[in-house]
Amino acid sequence: MAQNGIDYLLEQHKTVTNLIDAVRNGPRESRQDNFDQLRELLAVHETAEELILRPITRHEVPGGDTVADARMAEENEAKKVLAGLEKMDATSEEFLTAFAGFAQDVITHANNEESQEFPLVREHQNSEALADLGESLEKAEKAAPTHPHPSAKTTAANAVMGPFAAMVDKVRDAMSGASH
Ligand SMILES: [Fe+2]
Ligand SMILES: [Fe+2]
Repeated sequence: MAQNGIDYLLEQHKTVTNLIDAVRNGPRESRQDNFDQLRELLAVHETAEELILRPITRHEVPGGDTVADARMAEENEAKKVLAGLEKMDATSEEFLTAFAGFAQDVITHANNEESQEFPLVREHQNSEALADLGESLEKAEKAAPTHPHPSAKTTAANAVMGPFAAMVDKVRDAMSGASH
């Protein structure tokens, strides 16, 4: 049986938190690289939640539409802030200041998922459905162009790096294609 999908998402939240910490507190010369890794992970994680988790929240949880709408509003707000950050010099102090606000938005969003959405999905899905969720998430994320085979990393990663909005479009296309 595949891993429980909610546990899978919780592990990714930990990785997001670690990358945020690396951007904030790691060496200045690694900041752009850590920021890029964070953007890559968020493009995959938030898109997988949007395509695979949110429909379950909406259809399987009583009152789930309200919960799903609130989480989508948070994700969309964070995307706007991220677009501004991407235009800045990652080595600058201005970047760090702006990044602190973005990081807070991302962490608050993840905390809201963990306290208001994930427990409801766990409550209304049996263990088989939660394993199916895990399998779907893994399958979608494998299809995403931002997680290539290590040997293909340079070419494939370069092809999808660029503004976050463009990364998300490519990830969404790949994930939608994989599930049909
Ligand atoms: Fe999310
Ligand atoms: Fe999340």
